[in-house]
Amino acid sequence: MLAEVGPTTVLPSPPSYSELVRLCASGDFDVVVTQLIDRMDKPLLQRARIRGISNYAVGYDNIDVAAAARRGITVANTPGVLTDPTADLAMLLILATARRCIEGDHLMRVGEFTGWEPHLLLGADVSGRSLGLIGWGRIAQAVARRALGFGMDVRFVTVHDGNRPRGHDELGVGSGVVRQMGLDELLETSHFVSLHVPLSRETRHLIDRSALDAMRSDAILINTARGSIVDEAALVEALRNGSIAAAGLDVYEREPDVAPGLSDLANTVLLPHLGSATQSVRAQMSRLAAANALAMSCGTAPPHEVRAARDLR
Ligand code: DGY
Repeated sequence: MLAEVGPTTVLPSPPSYSELVRLCASGDFDVVVTQLIDRMDKPLLQRARIRGISNYAVGYDNIDVAAAARRGITVANTPGVLTDPTADLAMLLILATARRCIEGDHLMRVGEFTGWEPHLLLGADVSGRSLGLIGWGRIAQAVARRALGFGMDVRFVTVHDGNRPRGHDELGVGSGVVRQMGLDELLETSHFVSLHVPLSRETRHLIDRSALDAMRSDAILINTARGSIVDEAALVEALRNGSIAAAGLDVYEREPDVAPGLSDLANTVLLPHLGSATQSVRAQMSRLAAANALAMSCGTAPPHEVRAARDLR
């Protein structure tokens, strides 16, 4: 799609930050297509001579959108297409942590399954248990639909808008069955807490030591949003001392690294940021990113312009 419109440069591998600064300042490119690992911060944007950034992701916390706007640089993302696979992955982590799937798989592979026994790898129930969703954007609602199918008691809280009460029409399939509550109550009472908010100044370390302390000791934390919403060091501590029961994570504070000790814990399921990783979704994301880039290169508004920090996830 891009090559048909004009000269396109595809880098053989992701650029270092200094290389990215240099490329954006060179004046050789109208639009850059970035990945979530490309840091488009204020110092870079102040020197940039580009008109648009097309982020190949729905999350755009790697871009200082306000600094871009001040420079007249348009930012676009890829919403919608990765809603279902990310919700599937959150559900997978709920089931895998509750039913100790990875521990069971390991037991089989090392030849330690000696036959059925009444106490082998007993886990937690999912049906009939409560699921607290932090966020009520597209992905949270898709998780809610799945969880209701599993007979879970679904509740949610929003963060960016002061938890504005949602009307029936905004609850969709959850109308009459999903409850909105305050963050404290949700943390204190939910068996599973799943994060579906964008990373922002407001949500960085939203799940810190005191939030983890507030959670039930049999609670399971699920994160498919962004790693830095959780204080990962505090999470390791909470998982070690039994302040919560388990965690299912697809994202980390300092990807690709994980906090010391996290991967030693049996009560975690750890995936390498796979939320949108299906063949068809990555193809759709590519097409959206290209369509955004094309529009911006022609000086028109992209189909998915990012305007301000909102609960897009
Ligand atoms: C996104 O798009 O923000 C995901 O984290 C990457 O799939």
